[in-house]
Amino acid sequence: MRVTDTSDLWWKNAVIYCLDIETFCDSNGDGIGDFAGAAQRLDYLAELGVTCVWLMPFYPSPQRDDGYDIVDFYGVDERLGTLGDMVEFIRTAKDRGMRVIADLVVNHTSDQHPWFKQARSSKDNPYRDFYVWRSEQPPDTSSEVVFPDQENSIWTKDRKTGEWYLHRFYSHQPDLNVANPAVRDEIAKAIGFWMELGLSGFRVDAVPFFLETRGIDGHAGDPHDYLRDLRRFLSRRAGDAVLLGEVNLPYEQQVEFFGDAADELTMQFDFVTMQQMYLSLARGDARPLARALTDRPKIDSDSQWATFVRNHDELTLDKLMSSEREEVFEAFGPEKRMQVYGRGLKRRLPPMLGGDPQRIRMVYSLLFSLPGTPVLFYGEEIGMGENLAAEGRMSVRTPMQWTDEDSAGFSSAPPDKLVAPLVEGEFGPDNVNVAASRRDRSSLLRFMGTLIRRYRECPELGWGTFTMIDTPHPAVFAHRCDWEGNTLFLFHNFSDEPIDVEVSLDSGDVPRGGGVLTDLLEDTKTEIEPDDDLKVKLPPYGYRWLRIQIPGAGRLW
Ligand code: NOJ
Ligand code: CA
Repeated sequence: MRVTDTSDLWWKNAVIYCLDIETFCDSNGDGIGDFAGAAQRLDYLAELGVTCVWLMPFYPSPQRDDGYDIVDFYGVDERLGTLGDMVEFIRTAKDRGMRVIADLVVNHTSDQHPWFKQARSSKDNPYRDFYVWRSEQPPDTSSEVVFPDQENSIWTKDRKTGEWYLHRFYSHQPDLNVANPAVRDEIAKAIGFWMELGLSGFRVDAVPFFLETRGIDGHAGDPHDYLRDLRRFLSRRAGDAVLLGEVNLPYEQQVEFFGDAADELTMQFDFVTMQQMYLSLARGDARPLARALTDRPKIDSDSQWATFVRNHDELTLDKLMSSEREEVFEAFGPEKRMQVYGRGLKRRLPPMLGGDPQRIRMVYSLLFSLPGTPVLFYGEEIGMGENLAAEGRMSVRTPMQWTDEDSAGFSSAPPDKLVAPLVEGEFGPDNVNVAASRRDRSSLLRFMGTLIRRYRECPELGWGTFTMIDTPHPAVFAHRCDWEGNTLFLFHNFSDEPIDVEVSLDSGDVPRGGGVLTDLLEDTKTEIEPDDDLKVKLPPYGYRWLRIQIPGAGRLW
């Protein structure tokens, strides 16, 4: 591995693990997860192979959007601990070789933030311009609201001054005015503050809305200039810090947020690929996923896509055509109570796939072998389910399942005193928990550990050139990643039938000439003769990771 190429760009082959302190581990028995509890679980994450923990919002908040409604950008919600506990958490993570990034939510504040309280108090208050106001009756914006079950406009009239303020999300989350230099200074200061405490960057919430200057009078400048400024500021504070952006837009628009010179967002979630993967799963046909990856824009070698199976929000299917979305609903969430906002699912993967272990493993094998950096949402590694009785997106934000005890080993408080309801039934703590998974050699957790180790041992995945391989089988997703003389061939069978695949070895960069074929998940090696084709047997929902090493190439596993 060349030092100049790989050692600094840690995000290119990281394993990111998203958790919410509130629901991860409770150290003091009040039913609410806290930093001290989560710190005790860092060894578990390190053992799993996680390299970067992403913390969902832990800031002081009235909790009307699960912490995405912030009242103080410099604090820690006192239910979760103190700033000192937070710093201990970061230090311990670093000691175990893991970085920590956190949600940066600066599109809006809570309406309880002191700035907004000031701003709404009078039209000439110095904080008035921290937010976006209009004096005239707004047009109908009902088609633009993000939460159609709760809001019908992105403007709300404020009683005292009789003007409307902009809110892209809930009406209790007024949008900050990023055209105001004073707001930009505050955002930079908050970034600087958390960087001093040891973070390695941020997951940036709602990037397009955050940068948007619509509805703001006067010339606000190019939003991409502002994003570049922010990135420059961050890089001055820490050269290896990242901005992992939430930009759920079609690829043509999304790619702009990486910046022409890879100088805006470092990484972006790939919402398009995620959604097409579900369409492929629903159809037993790998082609939608293959098309998405073929269409995926090329990015600079310093930038990276972040791949995921689900995140902390609804499993959004908003980028599918409505008929396609219906297919996915029909396959994986046919009941209304499983759906939300008309565009997404409230479910986690294992219940969606009827608990089929082979199919679940195939999906995670895919996650760790697609080009990009995988992001796990806590509990995925053990196969947790959801609680459909919980409101909206809270269905998947249930307490982490550590043991089969009453409160899942999450807390010593009784189940009815927990911050969020537990999952019940087949995917609840009685049947799915860390302690049992550790004991069971055939558990999903063990499998995930293997996948993560293999992924980290395969620089081809994070660094290499990705190519789709054509096969005559629509159900087979076949791709290769080439890097420095080594090639990985990866096969995933989306159907419930066994399939035999034959692939020629001499396409791409690898010349014919034989070599050693290593099956990375089975730990076997075979010699390949100079004229051999690659013949692969895939069981139903099967998956294979095969490495060809040609003589003289760098020594890998
Ligand atoms: C996106 C976050 O992922 C979501 O949970 C939140 O409600 C909105 N942004 C508003 O902050
Ligand atoms: Ca607690």
